[in-house]
Amino acid sequence: MRLILLGAPGAGKGTQCKRITAEYHLPHLSSGDILRQEREQKSELGRKAQEYMDSGALVPDELIVEMMAGAIEKTTQEGFVLDGFPRTVNQSEELDKYLKSSNKGIDVVINLVIDDQVVLQRITGRRSCPMCGAVYHIENLKPKVDGICDNDGAKLVQRPDDTEEVVMNRLKTYHEQTEPVAEYYRQHGNICDIRADMDVDQVTDLIFGKLDAFQKA
Ligand code: AP5
Repeated sequence: MRLILLGAPGAGKGTQCKRITAEYHLPHLSSGDILRQEREQKSELGRKAQEYMDSGALVPDELIVEMMAGAIEKTTQEGFVLDGFPRTVNQSEELDKYLKSSNKGIDVVINLVIDDQVVLQRITGRRSCPMCGAVYHIENLKPKVDGICDNDGAKLVQRPDDTEEVVMNRLKTYHEQTEPVAEYYRQHGNICDIRADMDVDQVTDLIFGKLDAFQKA
């Protein structure tokens, strides 16, 4: 299966992608995670992306499309789940062209729907593990020991772009540039909207229901 998870910042894309990966054995290709790795390695791409990410703007399409095509090429499996990409209509068109060149296409697009106020509460409370990438929340999804990762005991950290000011910019960017991507897939693909303001397990059940139905069809 080739999937896309769409949704606002903090809708739960990363959280749900990790569960999809575990259940359906698909590689999780997150544009945000790849950019953060590049930034940590101080690569040229990471250096170019930093300023955009810090302000909540999008990194230019040409950099992202090349980076994500490279990530898809590296996977040894036929399927994948894309998280955070595509994020503009132009990125969607480029992705379609790239997949079409090898007679492939996107099978399912899951669009996580959520209000800005819920997003703000979620993102400012998010903490993540710098070692394994596990994601927690200071109220909704607490680790067993405060501030410590359940998996490897590392100290949890807050992302630098998770401040209220930057989140407001990320939301503005989302409404202006990424919401039209959902419209693109309504015209060109198989998209389903899923309410993302419910409990994590309830959202997972709804997503798995859609994916199971697709596999059986
Ligand atoms: P990216 O890393 O993709 O960030 P994002 O899209 O803003 O999404 P987040 O990672 O913040 O949220 P999420 O939906 O994964 O939520 P999560 O599961 O963590 O991008 C960062 C930056 O990189 C961008 O701003 C841009 O500059 C650049 N970039 C990336 N891709 C790009 C592209 N294609 N083009 C151009 N630029 C690009 O959940 C959030 C919190 O809520 C967690 O604490 C979690 O525990 C909690 N939570 C999750 N689900 C629930 C639930 N159901 N109930 C209660 N709490 C929940």
